[in-house]
Order: sequence, then C-alpha cells, then structure tokens
Amino acid sequence: MEGLSVDLLTEALTEELLPELIALDRIIFDAIGDRYGDHVWREEHFQKRLEQKWQLSCVARTQGRLVGFWIASRRSPTTVHTHRVATHPEQQGQGVGKAMFELARKQAAQVGAGQMTLFVVLANRTAIAFYERVGFSQLKGDPLSEFIGDRPHAAIENNLVLMEGIHYRAMHRAL
Ligand SMILES: CC(C)(COP(=O)(O)OP(=O)(O)OC[C@H]1O[C@@H](n2cnc3c(N)ncnc32)[C@H](O)[C@@H]1OP(=O)(O)O)[C@@H](O)C(=O)NCCC(=O)NCCS
Repeated sequence: MEGLSVDLLTEALTEELLPELIALDRIIFDAIGDRYGDHVWREEHFQKRLEQKWQLSCVARTQGRLVGFWIASRRSPTTVHTHRVATHPEQQGQGVGKAMFELARKQAAQVGAGQMTLFVVLANRTAIAFYERVGFSQLKGDPLSEFIGDRPHAAIENNLVLMEGIHYRAMHRAL
C-alpha cells in the first residue's frame, strides 16, 4: 500500500496514539463483535505493561493516520504471544496485516524467540485465513496441551490456538 509505514509501538507511541488505538478497536468490535474478542480494549489494555511488549508490538500508518496494530509480548523463552491484531476495515486486504506480521516476526527473532502463538475465535474465518497465509498452523495434540497448561478450559473454548515458527515445524516433522 502506498505510503504505508510500520513502526514499533513503543510505550511513548502508545500514549500518543491512544485515542486512535481505542477508536480503531471500537470500529473492529462494532463490525465483528465476539469474533474479535470478549470486549473492546480501553486505555489500560493498550497501556498494560507486559514482558518486552514495547519491542514486539507495532502499528501501521498511512499519512500519519493509524490503519493497524499488532500487539504482542514475550510469553516464554521460546515464544512470543500475540494478543490483538487489527487492520482498519477500509484498508483490509491491502497488505497491512502482512507488513505488521513481518515486523513483529523480525522483532521476535531479534529477542531470540523462535515461535509465535495466538488465540483466534473459531468463527473468525477471515483472521484464520490471514494467519494461515502468513504461516501459522493450528496447534494440536501434545504441543497444544503443553501450551494450554493449566489455563481454564473456558479460556480456549471456541478458540483455535495457532502457532508459527521454527520449533513448531520441527516438532511436526518429529511426529
Ligand atoms: C485479520 C486481519 C488483521 C488481516 O489483515 P489485512 O491487512 O486485511 O491482511 P493482508 O491484506 O496483509 O493479507 C495478508 C495475506 O492474507 C490473506 N488474507 C487476508 N484476508 C483474507 C481472507 N479474508 N481470506 C483469505 N485470505 C486472506 C491475503 O490474501 C494476503 O495474502 P497474499 O499475500 O497472498 O495476498 C484483518 O482482516 C482484520 O483486522 N480483521 C478484523 C480483526 C480481527 O479479526 N483480528 C484478529 C483477531 S485474532
């Protein structure tokens, strides 16, 4: 997309873009509801301090206007977890999500994490198609049980767990 810039979402940039981040989250929530998440994100969700979040999250802008965000943090020594991803409805399908993924992936590699995980609502076919296109696959079997650990079952009901990365591929080859 012409004029697209993708930048790390530092803590300072989060403060600066907070109204736009919240507005974009609301637009997506109003458009697709619980296929997106349980609730709209407020200030505290975007501001929440999570391990290496400011090195692993990014935003996409055109002409200074926010068109997307990718929020992720460190989950374990090997894994980065993605919490929230959105492209403005008017800019979807134009490479914004992919450009954000590429930066998030590069940053994950830079901090030494070889894999990335996320939850996606089963009914969110658009997002699943997108994630599969950029290289995520459904986590199943033992790797899934390992990932879920002692999370309450309700937390994963109606969700798929997707994973992308070298360790997952290696695990699959070994199965
Ligand atoms: C999911 C989402 C972030 C994708 O972002 P996007 O900017 O539209 O994605 P891109 O344009 O970068 O697409 C990248 C690739 O995924 C593919 N893709 C995107 N949407 C797709 C769809 N609905 N069906 C099939 N493939 C799709 C594109 O074709 C593209 O492949 P290509 O490189 O071969 O052309 C966007 O649709 C969105 O914000 N959805 C609403 C919020 C949401 O569901 N977030 C995820 C919650 S877990």
